[in-house]
Amino acid sequence: MKTLACYSIKGGVGKTATSVNLAYLAAESGLRTLLIDLDSQGASSFYFRVRPSKKNWGKRFFKTYEQLLKQIKASDFDRLDIIPAHESFRHFDALLSDKDKRQLRLKRVLKGLKKEYDLIILDCPPTLSYLSEGIFHAANMIVVPVIPTTLSERTYEQLQDFFQGNKLPTKVLYPFFSMVQRQKQLHKTTIERMSQETPRLFKTQIPFSSDIERMGEHRAPVNCVSPKTPGAQAYAALWGEISKKLLH
Ligand SMILES: Nc1ncnc2c1ncn2[C@@H]1O[C@H](COP(=O)(O)OP(=O)(O)OP(=O)(O)O)[C@@H](O)[C@H]1O
Ligand SMILES: [Mg+2]
Repeated sequence: MKTLACYSIKGGVGKTATSVNLAYLAAESGLRTLLIDLDSQGASSFYFRVRPSKKNWGKRFFKTYEQLLKQIKASDFDRLDIIPAHESFRHFDALLSDKDKRQLRLKRVLKGLKKEYDLIILDCPPTLSYLSEGIFHAANMIVVPVIPTTLSERTYEQLQDFFQGNKLPTKVLYPFFSMVQRQKQLHKTTIERMSQETPRLFKTQIPFSSDIERMGEHRAPVNCVSPKTPGAQAYAALWGEISKKLLH
Protein backbone atom coordinates (compact mmCIF):
# COMPACT_ATOMS: atom_id res chain seq x y z
CA MET A 1 0.00 0.00 0.00
CA LYS A 2 1.23 3.49 -0.88
CA THR A 3 0.13 6.83 0.51
CA LEU A 4 -0.04 9.86 -1.76
CA ALA A 5 -0.75 13.30 -0.28
CA CYS A 6 -1.97 16.32 -2.28
CA TYR A 7 -0.58 19.11 -0.19
CA SER A 8 0.35 22.78 -0.23
CA ILE A 9 0.68 25.39 2.49
CA LYS A 10 -1.27 27.63 0.14
CA GLY A 11 -5.03 27.56 -0.31
CA GLY A 12 -6.91 27.38 -3.59
CA VAL A 13 -4.07 25.93 -5.70
CA GLY A 14 -5.84 22.76 -6.90
CA LYS A 15 -5.20 20.19 -4.15
CA THR A 16 -8.79 18.99 -4.12
CA ALA A 17 -9.23 19.00 -7.92
CA THR A 18 -6.04 16.93 -8.10
CA SER A 19 -7.00 14.50 -5.31
CA VAL A 20 -10.39 13.84 -6.87
CA ASN A 21 -9.10 13.23 -10.39
CA LEU A 22 -6.10 11.17 -9.32
CA ALA A 23 -8.31 9.03 -7.08
CA TYR A 24 -10.64 8.37 -10.00
CA LEU A 25 -7.77 7.58 -12.38
CA ALA A 26 -6.03 5.31 -9.87
CA ALA A 27 -9.21 3.30 -9.26
CA GLU A 28 -9.86 3.12 -13.00
CA SER A 29 -6.35 1.73 -13.50
CA GLY A 30 -7.23 -1.17 -11.18
CA LEU A 31 -5.91 0.00 -7.82
CA ARG A 32 -8.08 -0.40 -4.74
CA THR A 33 -8.12 3.26 -3.77
CA LEU A 34 -9.21 5.15 -0.67
CA LEU A 35 -9.52 8.93 -0.75
CA ILE A 36 -9.42 10.52 2.69
CA ASP A 37 -10.75 14.05 2.84
CA LEU A 38 -8.73 15.59 5.66
CA ASP A 39 -10.03 19.11 5.06
CA SER A 40 -13.03 19.96 7.23
CA GLN A 41 -14.42 22.05 4.34
CA GLY A 42 -15.29 18.65 2.81
CA ALA A 43 -14.73 19.66 -0.81
CA SER A 44 -13.59 16.29 -2.16
CA SER A 45 -16.43 14.51 -0.31
CA PHE A 46 -18.78 16.98 -2.01
CA TYR A 47 -17.35 16.25 -5.46
CA PHE A 48 -17.96 12.53 -4.92
CA ARG A 49 -21.45 13.12 -3.47
CA VAL A 50 -20.49 11.40 -0.22
CA ARG A 51 -22.02 12.70 2.98
CA PRO A 52 -20.10 12.78 6.26
CA SER A 53 -21.24 10.72 9.20
CA LYS A 54 -23.63 12.55 11.51
CA LYS A 55 -21.57 11.45 14.50
CA ASN A 56 -18.81 13.70 15.78
CA TRP A 57 -16.09 11.08 15.31
CA GLY A 58 -13.03 13.30 14.58
CA LYS A 59 -11.68 12.79 18.11
CA ARG A 60 -11.36 9.04 17.41
CA PHE A 61 -9.58 9.50 14.05
CA PHE A 62 -6.05 8.76 15.28
CA LYS A 63 -6.99 6.03 17.77
CA THR A 64 -7.26 2.79 15.78
CA TYR A 65 -7.68 1.85 12.15
CA GLU A 66 -10.95 0.11 13.05
CA GLN A 67 -12.38 3.58 13.71
CA LEU A 68 -11.44 4.57 10.17
CA LEU A 69 -12.87 1.38 8.68
CA LYS A 70 -16.25 2.27 10.18
CA GLN A 71 -16.28 5.59 8.32
CA ILE A 72 -15.45 4.29 4.84
CA LYS A 73 -18.13 4.98 2.23
CA ALA A 74 -18.36 3.56 -1.27
CA SER A 75 -18.20 6.02 -4.16
CA ASP A 76 -20.14 5.67 -7.42
CA PHE A 77 -17.00 4.13 -8.96
CA ASP A 78 -15.55 0.63 -8.76
CA ARG A 79 -12.58 0.21 -6.40
CA LEU A 80 -12.89 3.80 -5.10
CA ASP A 81 -13.90 4.42 -1.49
CA ILE A 82 -14.00 7.66 0.46
CA ILE A 83 -13.63 8.74 4.05
CA PRO A 84 -15.53 12.02 3.95
CA ALA A 85 -14.41 14.98 6.00
CA HIS A 86 -16.26 15.82 9.16
CA GLU A 87 -16.62 19.30 10.56
CA SER A 88 -14.84 18.05 13.72
CA PHE A 89 -11.62 17.59 11.67
CA ARG A 90 -10.91 21.26 12.25
CA HIS A 91 -9.96 20.31 15.82
CA PHE A 92 -7.23 17.87 14.69
CA ASP A 93 -4.44 20.17 15.81
CA ALA A 94 -5.79 20.61 19.32
CA LEU A 95 -6.33 16.85 19.42
CA LEU A 96 -2.76 16.09 18.39
CA SER A 97 -1.11 18.80 20.48
CA ASP A 98 -0.89 16.78 23.70
CA LYS A 99 -0.23 13.37 22.13
CA ASP A 100 3.20 11.81 22.33
CA LYS A 101 4.70 10.75 18.98
CA ARG A 102 2.00 12.86 17.35
CA GLN A 103 3.92 13.02 14.04
CA LEU A 104 3.56 9.26 13.68
CA ARG A 105 -0.13 8.89 14.59
CA LEU A 106 -1.51 9.25 11.07
CA LYS A 107 1.08 6.86 9.61
CA ARG A 108 0.29 4.25 12.26
CA VAL A 109 -3.44 4.40 11.82
CA LEU A 110 -3.23 4.23 8.01
CA LYS A 111 -0.97 1.20 8.19
CA GLY A 112 -3.94 -0.78 9.45
CA LEU A 113 -5.65 -0.33 6.06
CA LYS A 114 -2.87 -1.96 4.05
CA LYS A 115 -4.78 -5.20 3.42
CA GLU A 116 -7.84 -3.42 2.04
CA TYR A 117 -6.18 -0.83 -0.23
CA ASP A 118 -3.35 -0.44 -2.74
CA LEU A 119 -3.39 3.35 -2.59
CA ILE A 120 -4.50 5.97 -0.09
CA ILE A 121 -4.86 9.54 -1.34
CA LEU A 122 -4.97 12.34 1.23
CA ASP A 123 -6.69 15.59 0.28
CA CYS A 124 -5.02 17.98 2.73
CA PRO A 125 -6.04 21.34 4.19
CA PRO A 126 -3.84 24.37 3.45
CA THR A 127 -2.00 24.59 6.77
CA LEU A 128 1.39 23.95 8.23
CA SER A 129 0.33 22.28 11.43
CA TYR A 130 0.63 19.15 13.59
CA LEU A 131 -1.67 17.45 11.12
CA SER A 132 0.66 18.42 8.25
CA GLU A 133 3.61 16.96 10.13
CA GLY A 134 1.65 13.73 10.41
CA ILE A 135 1.00 13.87 6.66
CA PHE A 136 4.72 14.44 5.95
CA HIS A 137 5.58 11.27 7.89
CA ALA A 138 2.74 9.16 6.49
CA ALA A 139 3.09 9.93 2.78
CA ASN A 140 5.35 8.01 0.39
CA MET A 141 4.91 10.89 -2.04
CA ILE A 142 3.63 14.44 -1.58
CA VAL A 143 2.43 16.12 -4.76
CA VAL A 144 2.38 19.90 -4.50
CA PRO A 145 0.35 21.98 -6.95
CA VAL A 146 2.15 25.24 -7.74
CA ILE A 147 0.39 28.04 -9.63
CA PRO A 148 3.24 29.67 -11.58
CA THR A 149 3.18 32.96 -9.70
CA THR A 150 5.59 34.57 -7.27
CA LEU A 151 3.60 33.76 -4.14
CA SER A 152 2.99 30.14 -5.02
CA GLU A 153 6.66 29.66 -5.82
CA ARG A 154 7.53 31.24 -2.49
CA THR A 155 5.25 28.91 -0.53
CA TYR A 156 6.89 25.94 -2.22
CA GLU A 157 10.27 27.27 -1.07
CA GLN A 158 8.88 27.67 2.46
CA LEU A 159 7.77 24.05 2.40
CA GLN A 160 11.23 22.89 1.34
CA ASP A 161 12.77 25.04 4.10
CA PHE A 162 10.41 23.46 6.62
CA PHE A 163 11.47 19.99 5.50
CA GLN A 164 15.15 20.86 5.72
CA GLY A 165 14.75 22.61 9.09
CA ASN A 166 12.93 19.61 10.54
CA LYS A 167 15.18 16.95 9.02
CA LEU A 168 12.38 15.58 6.85
CA PRO A 169 13.32 13.98 3.51
CA THR A 170 12.69 16.50 0.69
CA LYS A 171 12.86 13.58 -1.76
CA VAL A 172 9.16 12.88 -1.13
CA LEU A 173 8.18 16.35 -2.44
CA TYR A 174 7.03 16.39 -6.07
CA PRO A 175 5.78 19.76 -7.33
CA PHE A 176 3.80 20.31 -10.51
CA PHE A 177 2.30 23.38 -12.17
CA SER A 178 -1.41 23.88 -11.70
CA MET A 179 -3.94 26.30 -13.25
CA VAL A 180 -1.39 27.28 -15.89
CA GLN A 181 -2.27 30.17 -18.20
CA ARG A 182 0.46 30.22 -20.81
CA GLN A 183 -0.72 33.56 -22.19
CA LYS A 184 0.33 35.22 -18.92
CA GLN A 185 3.89 36.46 -18.97
CA LEU A 186 4.37 35.82 -15.24
CA HIS A 187 3.29 32.19 -15.67
CA LYS A 188 5.67 31.76 -18.59
CA THR A 189 8.72 33.20 -16.86
CA THR A 190 8.01 31.41 -13.57
CA ILE A 191 7.66 28.09 -15.40
CA GLU A 192 10.90 28.67 -17.32
CA ARG A 193 12.85 29.54 -14.18
CA MET A 194 11.42 26.84 -11.90
CA SER A 195 11.79 24.17 -14.59
CA GLN A 196 15.55 24.77 -14.56
CA GLU A 197 15.95 24.97 -10.79
CA THR A 198 13.43 22.58 -9.24
CA PRO A 199 14.26 18.94 -8.55
CA ARG A 200 11.52 16.32 -9.07
CA LEU A 201 9.21 18.76 -10.87
CA PHE A 202 6.69 16.76 -12.89
CA LYS A 203 6.69 17.53 -16.61
CA THR A 204 2.92 17.60 -16.87
CA GLN A 205 1.28 20.98 -16.35
CA ILE A 206 -2.40 21.22 -15.46
CA PRO A 207 -3.89 24.04 -17.54
CA PHE A 208 -6.41 26.54 -16.24
CA SER A 209 -9.56 24.88 -17.53
CA SER A 210 -13.22 25.73 -17.28
CA ASP A 211 -13.99 21.97 -17.36
CA ILE A 212 -12.02 21.51 -14.16
CA GLU A 213 -13.51 24.66 -12.67
CA ARG A 214 -17.00 23.33 -13.33
CA MET A 215 -16.47 19.99 -11.56
CA GLY A 216 -18.64 21.35 -8.76
CA GLU A 217 -21.64 21.51 -11.10
CA HIS A 218 -21.32 17.88 -12.22
CA ARG A 219 -20.06 16.68 -8.86
CA ALA A 220 -17.82 14.14 -10.59
CA PRO A 221 -14.17 13.99 -11.71
CA VAL A 222 -13.45 15.76 -14.99
CA ASN A 223 -11.75 12.55 -16.12
CA CYS A 224 -15.14 10.84 -15.84
CA VAL A 225 -17.38 13.60 -17.26
CA SER A 226 -15.21 14.85 -20.13
CA PRO A 227 -12.07 12.70 -20.45
CA LYS A 228 -11.09 14.14 -23.85
CA THR A 229 -10.76 17.75 -22.65
CA PRO A 230 -7.24 19.21 -22.19
CA GLY A 231 -7.67 19.42 -18.39
CA ALA A 232 -8.65 15.76 -18.11
CA GLN A 233 -5.86 14.67 -20.47
CA ALA A 234 -3.38 16.61 -18.38
CA TYR A 235 -4.54 14.83 -15.21
CA ALA A 236 -4.22 11.49 -17.03
CA ALA A 237 -0.63 12.38 -18.01
CA LEU A 238 0.12 13.51 -14.45
CA TRP A 239 -1.25 10.21 -13.09
CA GLY A 240 1.03 8.43 -15.57
CA GLU A 241 4.08 10.24 -14.18
CA ILE A 242 3.03 9.77 -10.55
CA SER A 243 2.19 6.07 -10.83
CA LYS A 244 5.49 5.35 -12.56
CA LYS A 245 7.44 6.88 -9.63
CA LEU A 246 5.19 5.71 -6.81
CA LEU A 247 4.37 2.16 -7.78
CA HIS A 248 7.48 0.82 -9.51
N1 LIG B 1 -6.93 23.59 -13.39
C1 LIG B 1 -7.93 24.39 -12.98
N2 LIG B 1 -8.50 25.29 -13.82
C2 LIG B 1 -9.48 26.11 -13.39
N3 LIG B 1 -9.99 26.09 -12.17
C3 LIG B 1 -9.48 25.22 -11.28
C4 LIG B 1 -8.43 24.31 -11.62
N4 LIG B 1 -8.12 23.57 -10.54
C5 LIG B 1 -8.95 23.97 -9.56
N5 LIG B 1 -9.78 24.95 -10.00
C6 LIG B 1 -10.80 25.69 -9.24
O1 LIG B 1 -10.11 26.55 -8.33
C7 LIG B 1 -10.72 26.51 -7.05
C8 LIG B 1 -9.71 25.95 -6.03
O2 LIG B 1 -9.38 24.63 -6.42
P1 LIG B 1 -9.26 23.47 -5.33
O3 LIG B 1 -10.45 23.47 -4.43
O4 LIG B 1 -8.94 22.22 -6.03
O5 LIG B 1 -8.00 24.01 -4.54
P2 LIG B 1 -7.47 23.61 -3.08
O6 LIG B 1 -6.00 23.81 -3.12
O7 LIG B 1 -7.98 22.27 -2.71
O8 LIG B 1 -8.18 24.72 -2.17
P3 LIG B 1 -8.27 24.72 -0.56
O9 LIG B 1 -6.92 25.18 -0.11
O10 LIG B 1 -9.35 25.70 -0.27
O11 LIG B 1 -8.58 23.33 -0.12
C9 LIG B 1 -11.97 25.67 -7.20
O12 LIG B 1 -13.05 26.51 -7.45
C10 LIG B 1 -11.67 24.79 -8.40
O13 LIG B 1 -12.84 24.44 -9.09
MG1 LIG C 1 -9.08 21.62 -1.02
